[in-house]
Amino acid sequence: MARFKLACAVLSFIHTCGGTLKGWNGTIESPGFPYGYPNGANCTWVIVAEKGNRIHIVFQSFAVEEEYDFLSLYDGHPQPANFRTRLTGFTIPPPVTSSDSVFSLRLTSDFAVSAHGFKAAYEELRSSSCGNPGVPPKGIRNGTQFNIGDKIRYRCVTGYVLDGHSLLTCVTSAAGVSVWDFPVPICRAEDTCGGTLRGSSGLISSFDFPSSDSPGTWTILADPGDTISLVFTEFQMEEKSDYLEIEGSKQPTIWLTGKTIPASIISNKNWLRLHFVTESNHRHKGFRAQYQVFMKYSC
Ligand SMILES: *[C@@H]1O[C@H](CO)[C@@H](O)[C@H](O)[C@H]1NC(C)=O
Ligand SMILES: *[C@@H]1O[C@H](CO)[C@@H](O)[C@H](O)[C@H]1NC(C)=O
Ligand SMILES: *[C@@H]1O[C@H](CO)[C@@H](O)[C@H](O)[C@H]1NC(C)=O
Repeated sequence: MARFKLACAVLSFIHTCGGTLKGWNGTIESPGFPYGYPNGANCTWVIVAEKGNRIHIVFQSFAVEEEYDFLSLYDGHPQPANFRTRLTGFTIPPPVTSSDSVFSLRLTSDFAVSAHGFKAAYEELRSSSCGNPGVPPKGIRNGTQFNIGDKIRYRCVTGYVLDGHSLLTCVTSAAGVSVWDFPVPICRAEDTCGGTLRGSSGLISSFDFPSSDSPGTWTILADPGDTISLVFTEFQMEEKSDYLEIEGSKQPTIWLTGKTIPASIISNKNWLRLHFVTESNHRHKGFRAQYQVFMKYSC
C-alpha cells in the first residue's frame, strides 16, 4: 500500500511540472531534480513580476542531455516571437535578465535517456538594479552591490587570462534601463587562442595561430552606446564538428558552420563575442573577419 501511494505521488509530480510563479524571489527545479527529469517532458514555467520590475535568473545547476533535450528561454510569455535562446549540455549558463516583467522557461525532453536537470533562482529587479552578473568559470569577482553607480571587478585564477573589461559599472542606458556597461569578461586558458580587440576597426583571423585547430574566444569591445559590425571574408568550417558561436547581436546567439561566407552581423550592444569551437582534424579551417565600430555620435 505504501509503495502504491508513493508511485502515485511520483506520477502526479511528473505531470504537474511547470506553472506560473509570482513573488519577489524563488527557485525553479526541473521535475525529479537532481535524480533526472522524465522522458517526453514538456514543462513551462512563467515568471510574472510586478509591473516595472524585471526578472533576473541565476542558474545553480545545469545538466540537460546535449542536443536531445532543451531548456528554451522566452523574454515574455512562451510564444515564438519572444524566443530568446535554447540551452542544452552540461555547463552552467550565465545569468539572464528579462527586458520586461514576464519571463518563461520551457523544458522539453525526448524519449531516451535524461540527465540530472536544472535548478535556478529567480528574483525581481527594481528599475535601479542591474542584477547579479555572475562569475565566469575560473574567475573571481570583487563587489557584491549591483545597483546604479556600483562597480565590480573581475580577475582570473592563475593559468587563465582575462578577456574583456575587468571593471563593470551599473549605468542607465539611453533607453532608461539599468545595465552593466560591459559584458562579464571570460577567463581563457593561457594556451588557447583569442583575445580582446578594441579600436575603431580591425581584423580577426583564426588562421593566424600556429595550429589552426585550436579553439578560441575573441571579444570585441567598443564604448557604451556604440555598435559593431562584423563582415566575414573567409569561412571554412566542417559541418557538425566546427562552428562559430556569436553573442551580442539582436538574436542572442548565432551559430555558424559550413563553407558559405555568412552574412554580416551587427551588434545590438557595445560588444560582440566569438567562440570558435572545433573538433575535426581538417587542416584548412577557420574564419577571417573584419570589424568596424559605429560611434553613437557619428553622423
Ligand atoms: C528570497 O529573499 C529572501 C530575502 O532576501 C531570502 O532570505 C530568501 O532566501 C530568498 N529565497 C530564495 C528562494 O532565494
Ligand atoms: C509543449 O507544450 C506547448 C503548450 O502546451 C506546445 O505549444 C508545444 O508545442 C509543446 N512542445 C513540444 C516539444 O511538445
Ligand atoms: C575589492 O575592492 C575593494 C573596494 O574597491 C578594495 O578595497 C579591495 O582591496 C578589493 N579586493 C581585492 C581582492 O581586489
